[in-house]
Amino acid sequence: MATIKANSYNIYIGDKSFDALNTFLTKNKYSHYYIICDEHTFEFCLPTLLFHAPLLNEAEIIELESGEDKKTLETCLQVWGALTDTGADKKSLIINLGGGVISDLGGFVASTFKRGIDCINIPTTLLSMVDASVGGKTGVDFEGIKNHIGTTAEPKGIFINPTFLETLSERQIKNGFAEIIKIALIADSVFWKELKKLKSTTEFSSEKIITKAVELKNTIVKKDLHETNIRKSLNFGHNIGHALESALIKQNKDVLHGEAIAAGMIMETEIAQSLKRISVKEQKEITDYIRSIYKNIKITKDTESQLLQYILHDKKNEGDDLCFALPKGVGAYELYCGVKLDLIKKAISNY
Ligand code: GLY
Repeated sequence: MATIKANSYNIYIGDKSFDALNTFLTKNKYSHYYIICDEHTFEFCLPTLLFHAPLLNEAEIIELESGEDKKTLETCLQVWGALTDTGADKKSLIINLGGGVISDLGGFVASTFKRGIDCINIPTTLLSMVDASVGGKTGVDFEGIKNHIGTTAEPKGIFINPTFLETLSERQIKNGFAEIIKIALIADSVFWKELKKLKSTTEFSSEKIITKAVELKNTIVKKDLHETNIRKSLNFGHNIGHALESALIKQNKDVLHGEAIAAGMIMETEIAQSLKRISVKEQKEITDYIRSIYKNIKITKDTESQLLQYILHDKKNEGDDLCFALPKGVGAYELYCGVKLDLIKKAISNY
């Protein structure tokens, strides 16, 4: 088992993370346990968790409907209500068992209930293991804007058990793998070379790969929890990728976060090349690799104009300047404010 030290808590990765969880629960003597899950993790993950962590058999189970469209204040009201009705107090513990929607919403509920109670994350998707559950960003969507209302509140522990991934589809593994590619490209060229040797989705989600990706993200978050500088590097691929995801979701198209981010990384790498931050050879290496894993996403004229609107209103911008985290060679990044709309349009059309 790997143990990674975060700001004020530990991240445990591996089969033995259940032992670490039992030690944590015994040591902290919480008054009540609340497990927040959705219908999928209720069915596929909760029985395993309760088997390995018997203390949690006394937990109240709060089962939410799955889906990003349920990451709302209305769902929070439901959870705050359930906590209140069952006598939750300051010494209660919330356990987020699920993907990014559960840890974002559960973390937000915990950080606001009675001005903050403890929570831990037990991520069950590759995307949440390597990204969403790590780093203390919590929140819900509001008026169609993703993560518009939220807090930065770190959990008291993260317990990552890759066996939960056994029930995930190949598409869901690739969904999380996009964030692993991202962190390698901005932070570690050796890791990037290692990724390029992987052959299957089983290898994409091995304990070793998850551990390295979490270590890299944790090192960045420890230096800049509130995203004032280096944490912005984690936005690589997300200016265009996030905007594309939002535009396609608005059109009810079936797209996963990682698929849109993969496309975003291809387009933002093209921008980096235009700005001479990366060579043509490096651009080709990155683009070929991403294209070997992810299918091309069709971007119609309508989608393009919608996504440009999202980019213009992105909270990552500073005033009128469009601020992107761009790769600078492989394994480093540069925060570039002032990306021109024409460059973005050219990257979309070349994509
Ligand atoms: N998902 C990007 C971050 O945690 O900052």
